[in-house]
Amino acid sequence: MAAEVLWISAKEIDQLGITMTEIMDGVEAGFAAIGRDEGEMPAKIGIHPREDCFIHAMPCYLGGDIDRAGVKCVSGYPPNPAKGHPYITGIMLLNDPETGLPQAVMDAAWVTAWRTGAASGVYARHFGDPDTTSVAMIGTGVQARVNLLAMKEVFPKLADIRCYDLYEASTDRFIADMQPQLPGAAFTKCADMQSAVTGSDVLITCTPIVETPERFIPRDWVKDDCLVISVDYDSAIHEDVFAGANFTCDNRNQYVWTREQGTYFRNGYPGPADIDADMSEICSGTKPGQRSGRRGAVLMGIASHDIMTAALVFDRAAKAGLGTKVEL
Ligand SMILES: NC(=O)c1ccc[n+]([C@@H]2O[C@H](COP(=O)([O-])OP(=O)(O)OC[C@H]3O[C@@H](n4cnc5c(N)ncnc54)[C@H](O)[C@@H]3O)[C@@H](O)[C@H]2O)c1
Repeated sequence: MAAEVLWISAKEIDQLGITMTEIMDGVEAGFAAIGRDEGEMPAKIGIHPREDCFIHAMPCYLGGDIDRAGVKCVSGYPPNPAKGHPYITGIMLLNDPETGLPQAVMDAAWVTAWRTGAASGVYARHFGDPDTTSVAMIGTGVQARVNLLAMKEVFPKLADIRCYDLYEASTDRFIADMQPQLPGAAFTKCADMQSAVTGSDVLITCTPIVETPERFIPRDWVKDDCLVISVDYDSAIHEDVFAGANFTCDNRNQYVWTREQGTYFRNGYPGPADIDADMSEICSGTKPGQRSGRRGAVLMGIASHDIMTAALVFDRAAKAGLGTKVEL
């Protein structure tokens, strides 16, 4: 008998009405499962066919009550927007852990966007000051949008959104898209990066990941009790910002392995001994979060987020009768 796979497009996923809170809960459960050693998640591997471009493969099995498996193939090509293509593209595959048979194939750009914002939200759940009112968003593309949606879930008093992008038009589009989502908040288009960062309670950087980073945000722009979230590896935040701070990564194994490859997280970025906790230790209760003082995270994105988000999409699509069944 030929097996059937459910093909789910980005448009169909949009119709499912999945919320940021649901994805954050899934991402948190995935972190916790890895923390309990219930699963298998090697560090993501990649190839780099063009400068600053990557194609990553990210397999993961989550066991215990979750019992889900799959692999994401995702590309990031900074020159794509100028060619009319998205920067992030890819395919997410869910497998039946019992037989290995493919169950669903879906757009990986949607999964990647939302689960990455959700991971920042989970970090902020454990490390954020509940009285946070201001956030600086640096690089106002896709990630800035989903990261802001996650911050909105965690910080009910969020009122002051400072935005900076290399391209003013990008910030204009960001504000037009996001203002209706946070109608009570004031959005400021900052003329330079420093004025966005200075005095902000939370700093989130979402600029392109590059092999020769400028790390343009120095320590003296960042206030002492700022919560710093790097979505863009070591591209934007200077190593001094993390020196002496409480430092968290999403996954020790992946951070240390990537650092050892020699391209990212060198030249002063935290080494293995400087990692206070990873998010699986936090979410499984092995280590506590910290809600004050300078604290920061490099959240590289891990495959458990993809599995948890894709499982949510698959279950919801199957229930709603959405997607196209394709014979193998
Ligand atoms: N950590 C993760 O899990 C994860 C997941 C997805 C994407 N990412 C990374 O997040 C970053 C943003 O991704 P995206 O999908 O939002 O991309 P995007 O292209 O939608 O947005 C990037 C924005 O950065 C702006 N920009 C470029 N150079 C800048 C600079 N020097 N200063 C300020 N702004 C600048 C661009 O104009 C653009 O608006 C990328 O580095 C991507 O690889 C990380």
